[in-house]
Amino acid sequence: GRIWTEVGALTEALKDQIVLVRGRAQTVRAVSKKMAFLVVREKGSTVQCVLSVAPDLVSLGMVKFANGLSRESYVDVEGVVSVPNSPIKGASQQVEIQVRKLSCISKAVPTLPINIEDAARSEAEIDKALQAGEQLVRVNQDTRLNYRVLDLRTPSNQAIFRIQCQVENIFRQFLLSEGFVGIHTPKLIAGSSEGGSAVFRLDYKGQPACLAQSPQLHKQMAICGDFGRVFEVGPVFRAEDSFTHRHLCEFTGLDVEMEIKEHYSEVMDIVDRLFVALFDSLNERCQKDLEDIGKQYPFEPLKYLKKTLRLTFQEGVQLLKATGIEIDPLGDLNTESERKLGQLVFEKHDTEFYILHRYPLAVRPFYTMPCSDDQTYSNSFDVFIRGEEIISGAQRVHLPDLLTTRAIACGIDVKTISTYVDSFRYGAPPHGGFGVGLERVVMLFCALNNIRKTSLFPRDPLRIAP
Ligand code: 4AD
Repeated sequence: GRIWTEVGALTEALKDQIVLVRGRAQTVRAVSKKMAFLVVREKGSTVQCVLSVAPDLVSLGMVKFANGLSRESYVDVEGVVSVPNSPIKGASQQVEIQVRKLSCISKAVPTLPINIEDAARSEAEIDKALQAGEQLVRVNQDTRLNYRVLDLRTPSNQAIFRIQCQVENIFRQFLLSEGFVGIHTPKLIAGSSEGGSAVFRLDYKGQPACLAQSPQLHKQMAICGDFGRVFEVGPVFRAEDSFTHRHLCEFTGLDVEMEIKEHYSEVMDIVDRLFVALFDSLNERCQKDLEDIGKQYPFEPLKYLKKTLRLTFQEGVQLLKATGIEIDPLGDLNTESERKLGQLVFEKHDTEFYILHRYPLAVRPFYTMPCSDDQTYSNSFDVFIRGEEIISGAQRVHLPDLLTTRAIACGIDVKTISTYVDSFRYGAPPHGGFGVGLERVVMLFCALNNIRKTSLFPRDPLRIAP
């Protein structure tokens, strides 16, 4: 009988079977009036369909119809699976379909703003093709984003979002197995949660409010509500005017908060085991997707250690100093010094993933716990992949009076966070946690050059559509 089959599942095992596939007409190539090749694509996989006039196959009219299909139209194809003698170029599947029936279920407009096959090529391939005099248009990032539903169709872009889904999945699975509870904190809140001006303000039934810059305050309040260990996957809103390759106005935050028994290194232990497990399983379970990403965006696999390297901020400053880069030992690292430090760490320790901790207190948010032995430093950390930040975390101040003092010192209007501060007046355990940017993890694991590539419909200071 006939079976609906996914294009990606078409293999030699189905030889001589009648199958039914639904996908897009990627290309049609006419060989003669009596023969044409139609490449059908579904979720990034492609199969060559042969239209050949014969009594038990297709009519002359059908070949003509196929030749008239506009690219990217949606088609249903019924036919017999066959295995050709030589490898098939221009399709991912190594079997063909000898077409018996073909119908178009949704027509695409005749002229597309993006040619999917060209969009699926790497920059190096495009350069080569242009040099060879091939007719093709290099599609820039803005055009891709303007027509994102087309851009998303390339095999590499498909794979990016399958990887992203896996990252989220592994994050959840790992934390559940460690006794964490998944929570959802409100995204409409009364005041800024990270300080600063980078908040989207709005009117909440006559009261001033804003979109949450992070689940920070409420995930800590969940600890006050006795959940012990919590995590959240949810949207994070930042109104900052950052026109960079790594800032979005809306991104997906992977957040963790947990009780600390003795030392903030317990939080870093979770980061360590979570990320080693994450990288291991991506490499083991997602080979095909990683290869697909590499076709459009070639990259070297991430180098990481099975026990994540931890350096103190002071050690980082020393490393930089040894190569002649002076930075303020009580200031913050900028993008450039973070990159440089990433390189130095890689040369010295052979890892592109590491934790930098014990940051100067002055450069951390008001809720960060000062070090007990030296108040100029804090029980905090950042985590880097390939020299770029993907996580920041810390132990929090769970003592309401100290929290108030710290908030005032950081210029925060304590009235706007009074219910948060009060949460700690009813008894609260020492605790800490961290926040991860999902899009950044995927971007840097795959060494992509722009965070917009790992956001389905990116939101940046200039873009709110599509
Ligand atoms: O460093 P951030 O702002 O830290 C927090 O939000 C804290 N509440 C986390 C904590 O638990 N202490 O953001 C955390 C992570 C960053 O390391 C980065 O990966 C990502 O979120 N991130 C962004 N990603 C995309 N676009 C932006 N504008 C981002 N800002 C931060």
